[in-house]
Amino acid sequence: MSVLVSGGAGYIGSHTAIKLHESGRDVVIADNFSNSSERIIPRLEKLSGCMVPYERADLCDKAAVERLFNKYSFDSIIHFAALKAVGESVANPIKYFNNNLISTLNLLTAMRETGVRNFVFSSSATVYGAPASVPITEDFPLRAVNPYGRTKLIIEDILRDLKASDVNFNAAILRYFNVVGTHPSGFIGEAPCGIPQNLFPCIAQVAVGKIESLPVYGNDYPTRDGTGVRDYIHVQDLADGHIAALDRLQAKGGLLTYNLGTGCGYTVFEVIDAYEKASGKSIPVEVMPRRPGDIAECFADASLAKLELGWQAKFSLDDMCRDSWKWQKNNPGGYE
Ligand code: UD1
Repeated sequence: MSVLVSGGAGYIGSHTAIKLHESGRDVVIADNFSNSSERIIPRLEKLSGCMVPYERADLCDKAAVERLFNKYSFDSIIHFAALKAVGESVANPIKYFNNNLISTLNLLTAMRETGVRNFVFSSSATVYGAPASVPITEDFPLRAVNPYGRTKLIIEDILRDLKASDVNFNAAILRYFNVVGTHPSGFIGEAPCGIPQNLFPCIAQVAVGKIESLPVYGNDYPTRDGTGVRDYIHVQDLADGHIAALDRLQAKGGLLTYNLGTGCGYTVFEVIDAYEKASGKSIPVEVMPRRPGDIAECFADASLAKLELGWQAKFSLDDMCRDSWKWQKNNPGGYE
């Protein structure tokens, strides 16, 4: 029996695939490589010391999903495959609803038809919209503020409905905060296609000289230094959170919902300082107006995952910057 990792060639999926292998599980990756590269596969094989079975498959193609489930025997699915650019989702909501919802429905249908019970879902702190306060606990009100976030919220609702309809169906909804850092080997990492929109990949590209200066979106928020506060979590910690959630699903079942964050918030300027220290490079900045849709502060109360999964983030902001820089400086062109 294997674990299907949809989107396993992507940033978070690939790091989790390695951890799954380390936890003694067989892994099958399915990816359409729309925002990832097939060139990651030999690197995953080198890191895990064995062949990594993978299929090029578009999960929106029902027949392709059926072929996947006929070819392999899965006991669990970890579903990372999705489009995730907020701005693009606002410009093209139909693309987001089609891709993120149809692929998930196809997987859930194939699971039901083949008796696979355990589903781990990549959700996001975006489902809290603009929270009334911080830290955020899992019982905060949920509200989507853009089509990308709405796809996450709709899928969460689908999973809650499925659990209510079928006691044998188990799901873990994992709400990620801001995932950064890379495998400590510097051998796999985040390789965004095109111009990066998120803070860490932007800083990394400024540090390596690909972008001239870092836009800082707003220095007039009601925070310590006026810039936005986020809960940055190392991708290695996040991947461990998936293993802990899967362990629990496989042992006890249920419908589980956890915040995966560190519980600490850092401002944009604090992140820049830490990155400058880790890289030895100076990061020129240009203060810009606030980015539409951004909130002042967002950080997790991650105590439920600690209590129920025994999981807690271990890596510091300095670790995140060190590993991000190692990847960036060794692979300035990503996987190409
Ligand atoms: C973004 C998405 C969120 C998604 C998450 C993970 C938006 C509005 N939100 O979160 O829905 O779940 O990524 O993919 O896109 N910043 C700069 N300069 C930059 C980039 C970012 O100052 O070049 C600032 C932002 O204003 C924010 C912080 O850095 O205060 C973090 O931004 P980012 O990395 O884009 O993540 P979020 O906006 O928190």
